[in-house]
Amino acid sequence: MKKVGFGIIGCGNIGPVHAAAIQAVSCAMLVAVSDVVEANAKKLADKYNVDAYTDYREMVKRKDVQAVCLCVPSGLRAEIAEECAQAGKHILSEKPLEVTSSRIDRIIRATEKAGVLLGCIFQSRFADGSKLIKQAIEQNRFGKLVLGDAYIKWYRSQEYYKSASWRGTWKLDGGGALMNQGIHQIDLLLWFMGRVKRVFAQTQCIAHEGLEVEDLATAVLEFENGAYGVIEGSTATWPGHPARVEVHGSEGSAVLEDGKIVFWKFTKRKPIDVKVEKEMKRESELGSGASDPLAALKIEGHRRQIEDFAQAILKGRKPAVDGREARHAVALIEQIYKSARLGKPIKIQ
Ligand SMILES: NC(=O)c1ccc[n+]([C@@H]2O[C@H](COP(=O)([O-])OP(=O)(O)OC[C@H]3O[C@@H](n4cnc5c(N)ncnc54)[C@H](O)[C@@H]3O)[C@@H](O)[C@H]2O)c1
Repeated sequence: MKKVGFGIIGCGNIGPVHAAAIQAVSCAMLVAVSDVVEANAKKLADKYNVDAYTDYREMVKRKDVQAVCLCVPSGLRAEIAEECAQAGKHILSEKPLEVTSSRIDRIIRATEKAGVLLGCIFQSRFADGSKLIKQAIEQNRFGKLVLGDAYIKWYRSQEYYKSASWRGTWKLDGGGALMNQGIHQIDLLLWFMGRVKRVFAQTQCIAHEGLEVEDLATAVLEFENGAYGVIEGSTATWPGHPARVEVHGSEGSAVLEDGKIVFWKFTKRKPIDVKVEKEMKRESELGSGASDPLAALKIEGHRRQIEDFAQAILKGRKPAVDGREARHAVALIEQIYKSARLGKPIKIQ
């Protein structure tokens, strides 16, 4: 079987998740890793018996590296992506793709110019429950969409923010409870409900010290399809709760918690509902980031998305979550921050 050779850039918390996920995909292979901190690169390289680099530019000279996973702090990706695209490498970035939509546009332009694929990790989209809700929306099972909500009541300790200097900064984290943590559910909400045309939000840092960004946000939304919704995001709600996305329509409702369906009811039953009700009894295949970024995170979501990306490369098709798809959530969060800053509703063009 043909295998896509991957290199990882950034071997901190999430880099090792990419390594394990790549090794679990039959059409992918880890060939090298890089990190500016040599010990981080070496530790991961030794685990998988691959080469370690302190300069990713050297790593991307290798022909057997066809794709790179960008696992560096969020606001460092634009320049790195531009160089990797120029070197002819396909790019799979961690979320958020970058910290502003204009920096995302730089990445989209660079990859389109170089003719390489661009994907962004939103592993929640690959959960069975997320796919079932998307499918039910496409089949019009909800009737008229009425409400779409995302609740991310998580907990991150003060130590978490101190664990790396980029965390909780505008420049490199791009925001707080929404841009770093809540973005998964915001992406799902937009995937399910479509674009937002009006937002009114408030944000603050209520319980952490020394953060530039928010640990608490609420936003009221109006979607282009006429439905309303809310986003509540926090990293200050101890002990941290499952992340929840709700879709309510005139003919049905579904609720997702950490990628698992916990409520599913429609006016017209279908044979698939029996299967979904059975699935509701098992554990989430994604795990949860409710109180710790990694302790309960499973690799299955990353494995599924890396498999999709490798298949996209081999078959010459688009990946399931490309750069333009990944841009929507960041662009909405920017408008939420703007509304909170100005203290008034924002109409989104
Ligand atoms: N999908 C998810 O569920 C998930 C979970 C955690 C983190 N993330 C994302 O992953 C990214 C990294 O987060 P993290 O928690 O692993 O951060 P981290 O600080 O633990 O790791 C970042 C690593 O990048 C390295 N680095 C910095 N600049 C570099 C460069 N120029 N070249 C090579 N290496 C460089 C650092 O030395 C560090 O080892 C963030 O964007 C975050 O949002 C996603």
